[in-house]
Amino acid sequence: MTIAIQVQTCTAGEILPLLPAQIKETYGFAAHTATYRCPPPIAVGSTLCTETGDVLFTVVGHLFLPTGLPHASLCPLLKAQSTMKSEEMFDLQLIKKGVSLAWITLSDKGAQGLREDTAGPLIAETLGTALDIGYSQGFLLPDEPDLLRALLTSLALIDRYDIICTSGGTGLTTRDRTPETTERLLDRKLPGFAQAMMAKSLEKTPKAILSRACAGIIGESLVLNLPGSAKAVRENLEAVLPALDHTIQKLHNDPSDCGANA
Ligand code: MTE
Repeated sequence: MTIAIQVQTCTAGEILPLLPAQIKETYGFAAHTATYRCPPPIAVGSTLCTETGDVLFTVVGHLFLPTGLPHASLCPLLKAQSTMKSEEMFDLQLIKKGVSLAWITLSDKGAQGLREDTAGPLIAETLGTALDIGYSQGFLLPDEPDLLRALLTSLALIDRYDIICTSGGTGLTTRDRTPETTERLLDRKLPGFAQAMMAKSLEKTPKAILSRACAGIIGESLVLNLPGSAKAVRENLEAVLPALDHTIQKLHNDPSDCGANA
């Protein structure tokens, strides 16, 4: 897909929204503009490239922006990959390479700044050993089901991440609500993931039995609950790593015959 974009002067690393050209004047802040033929959302991790293959932007999220018109506009957020000094018009190709990963740490203490999050970053590090991660973003929430529900929905159905992992809130305290919040949102369950993680975890510790983690699909995103400690994250992911690449391919409707290379 090609999008015609009028690029705003920006520096490498800067994140600006992509607004439909007709609403640009409503805003006092800098924004790139586009005349959409095919409206957003655009999968996070997609890149916008010139004809010669130079990557100008990576799509890193979305915002609903009020427009002054009757309807708010869903705007992709573009992270500049290089410094651009002119307000030029480009025809940019939308290309997605690699897997996009969102990880969410659920921790009341972490969200208050009382505990360093070591488990969340470990998810990206561990998955990176088995998958070509093209884009990864972390999130930190208190153990609040409504916030988790809103974030999971948005990451899966608007940002369209390939994989969304949660860490924490799978246990037994009254604030541990991650599995039931996740499960209600799933379009399809993947009980095999939870079973594989439990089997492997029980080889490591009998306390693994306390985790109620679940897994499944929302839209085209694989969603995986993991317990909250860094040790548990590593041990649980070990159990599913070998199957993840194939899972993502099948989620994207890979028609190849599984019997041939099982
Ligand atoms: N799984 C593995 N592989 N390794 C562990 O150390 N810890 C368990 C369990 N799963 C653990 C594990 C413990 S002690 C708890 S209480 C539960 O995960 C729930 O953790 P959570 O509430 O942080 O999600």
